Amino acid sequence: AGYVGAGISSLLETPLVFTGHSLGRIKQQRLQEKGVKTETIESRYNIGRRIEAEEVALDNASFIIASTIQEIEEQYSIYERYQPKRMTVIPPGVNLSQFRPLRHREPPPPITESLNRFLTHPVKPMILALSRPDERKNIPTLVKAYGENPELRQLANLVIIAGNRDDIEALDRGASKVLKTLLLLIDKYDLYGSVALPKHHEPNDVPGIYRLAARTGGIFINPALTEPFGLTLIEAAASGLPIVATEDGGPQDIIGYCKNGLLINPLDSVRIGEALLEALSDHTRWKHWSRRGIRGAHRHFSWDGHVDTYLKTASRVTTARKRRQTVTHSHSRLPTADRLIICDVDDTLLGNDDALAELTRMLKDAGEPVGVGIATGRSVKSAVRVLRKAKVPTPDVLITSVGSEVYYGKRLIPDAGWRKHISYHWKPKALREAMSDIRGIRLQPKENQQEYKISYFIDPDRAPCMLDINRHLRLLNLQAKMVFSHNYYLDLLPIRASKGLALRHLSSKWGLPLERFLVAGDSGNDEEMLCGNTLAVVVGNYSQEIEQLRNMPRIYFAQRTHAGGIIEGIQHYNFLGEPRIDYE
Ligand code: GLC
Ligand code: MG
Repeated sequence: AGYVGAGISSLLETPLVFTGHSLGRIKQQRLQEKGVKTETIESRYNIGRRIEAEEVALDNASFIIASTIQEIEEQYSIYERYQPKRMTVIPPGVNLSQFRPLRHREPPPPITESLNRFLTHPVKPMILALSRPDERKNIPTLVKAYGENPELRQLANLVIIAGNRDDIEALDRGASKVLKTLLLLIDKYDLYGSVALPKHHEPNDVPGIYRLAARTGGIFINPALTEPFGLTLIEAAASGLPIVATEDGGPQDIIGYCKNGLLINPLDSVRIGEALLEALSDHTRWKHWSRRGIRGAHRHFSWDGHVDTYLKTASRVTTARKRRQTVTHSHSRLPTADRLIICDVDDTLLGNDDALAELTRMLKDAGEPVGVGIATGRSVKSAVRVLRKAKVPTPDVLITSVGSEVYYGKRLIPDAGWRKHISYHWKPKALREAMSDIRGIRLQPKENQQEYKISYFIDPDRAPCMLDINRHLRLLNLQAKMVFSHNYYLDLLPIRASKGLALRHLSSKWGLPLERFLVAGDSGNDEEMLCGNTLAVVVGNYSQEIEQLRNMPRIYFAQRTHAGGIIEGIQHYNFLGEPRIDYE
């Protein structure tokens, strides 16, 4: 979520597939519940920006991949751009070469020794719990369930693998509290000889522990208070160990797929005890569960399976889109070009007549395969006027009004699809009204206002910062992309518009990968297009606000100014030859 909106393709053209990690809004809630102050959350995690990026991604994605149904229903649902119809569950995979049943005559895993120290009858079926000693994992309830069920105690052992410890007093407060509770409960119910709580284990012991538990005809239990996913359940299933788990999103999905166990209410210790007893007592059913778990894990939770489903889903979307795409006829080189140079106009293309003449000659010589375009804050009328004055041939494509309009060739054929696409959520009247409360800004003259662009002059010393303006708009339920340049201009655009997004639209419309674009710019309104996967050059006379792009991959800072900088960039990437795109 580095730069809001960068790298996001337009919905109508290239399908963007979004897979979130932990979601910003959920993280924010958890931190707030913990009592962390809003300002701290903001300054430490940049959470507002992250959430905004997630919102933009949700808005633009053709489909969103979630790990569980719960993630869709309870996590994504608190997002403004929540569109469950576009969401698909494709569970992540598990490393299945590691998690497998014990082979015939395979010797017991090394961890067996350290468990046997605790157990009087180690051959009894093993009830296995494996998690961090975290309160939310609810292990004490499991010990209570076991301790208070005499039949269960008679039938099985309880093995708890809860992290590593030397000295319980030296652990963090939560962990030490949980472990002390466990030891007290073991003592209270006098579980010596039937409960194992080893002090140490290595990560590579873990697969062996599942195998061992499966070999004894045991059960894996996850009694956590909440469980959005439940990786250990899949590992257990793949090892042939049936499962009992909390009735929550992750376990519901896993048991739904694998049909290899029972769901329990984590607060009901009596029922937990009964469920375990039930699961361990019916041997025929145990065998079914064991087999189904192995099969289910491979079918639904392998990385190969994940990739298969992912590609199938993706190709369904791509073919649907291709059919819908129409070809725009225009007198431009775009249909034949295999690479495209897109330049900002003021202070990039224009400003040094000699260098401009040199560049024009270079591009003319390059011929058909090299398309040329501009991306400017000016209106199309004003752009054409200055280009003509500077004797620049009409470009193949004109991205104008800071990316809110796109035109092709000499006849300036407008891209109607783009217009329609960006109109989403655009409320210019309400925006203007909301902005009238803000100090330090005033509207630019009428000819600079466009259907999809509201432009102001801004006095940064008097005006609030961008984040605050954005917040102000959000509170009024308004959204706009804000572009700040030259310490002087502020443009409001629809959230789907910008020079960078317009460029991505071109990339997909004309089937040219972004690596085949060379973009050149000098100021804030170029920032987004410079940051994408294109090759980028910043001309020597750049404006301070884009200094922060230095050292980013594929952004070359030229020494020469204006069109001279563009020439230097072309040479740097060898763009008219075989372009160097390995420039990271
Ligand atoms: C051009 C436009 C102006 C805009 C500025 C920055 O100068 O005429 O309206 O604010 O670019 O994008
Ligand atoms: Mg400029």
